Amino acid sequence: MTTAAPGADRGAFLQAGGPLDQFPLPVLAGYEQAEVAFARNAWPLRAAEELRSALIFRALARASTRSPIGAGWTALFLAAAHDEIFHAKLCAATGARLGAPPPRYDASLVHARLGPLTDPTRRVCALVLIEVAVGETISLAMFRAGRRAAREPLTRAVLERILIDEVRHQRLGWSAISAWWPALDEPARAALQQEARAGLGAMEQQIAAPALHWLQANVAFNSKYAELGVLEPEARVEAFYAAVERLVVPRLTRLGLDGRRAWRDRYSAGR
Ligand SMILES: [Fe+2]
Ligand SMILES: [Fe+2]
Repeated sequence: MTTAAPGADRGAFLQAGGPLDQFPLPVLAGYEQAEVAFARNAWPLRAAEELRSALIFRALARASTRSPIGAGWTALFLAAAHDEIFHAKLCAATGARLGAPPPRYDASLVHARLGPLTDPTRRVCALVLIEVAVGETISLAMFRAGRRAAREPLTRAVLERILIDEVRHQRLGWSAISAWWPALDEPARAALQQEARAGLGAMEQQIAAPALHWLQANVAFNSKYAELGVLEPEARVEAFYAAVERLVVPRLTRLGLDGRRAWRDRYSAGR
């Protein structure tokens, strides 16, 4: 696999190879067609998320070569980008096996994220703190909760496999930002406080808000969906807030930021 893969023809490279060779066949007896149809549509979305992570790690690897504090970390970011490409392939292949349409990739959100981060040191710090340390901690919690509820063998095996790498990714994020922290000046630290604040608000909107809306609408959730890997809205909400309050906020504070303030002011720009 080459480092150019994430930016290459995204649709084509995900078709290559057999990422499911070592995985069990799906066992769908006991599930209605409509239940499988509902659950399988999560896989192309997961594949798109994984590819987004690959693009972030690739941007991080590139910026690290241009930043004085990033030198020495490039190979680890590239290895993580490769993991994420593999995850994207796995998710796309799992969806295809269950009959889902191919993933749709939109790199414009990644470009929008990178656009304002022109300075290489500012870019590596913001990406490593928000997208890797915070983002992977939360996504690990979501994968863990999803895997816990999953019963269908292929679904469970794929979620389990992805989890192994996500444990390492979030650790990489916290290790890198902790190692870089002493070299950062006050303006750089203040910028990271703002990044943490805005990042937490954005993640709540993206991850928890749809589940909260579902709960408010009082729509029943079929437990078979959870067996097929779709996290029950209550479990999703619980996993998100537990990860933020018990893991992310204390770790931000241990780093030297004000984690509680970042979380409290997540919708108050400038605080
Ligand atoms: Fe991943
Ligand atoms: Fe990851």
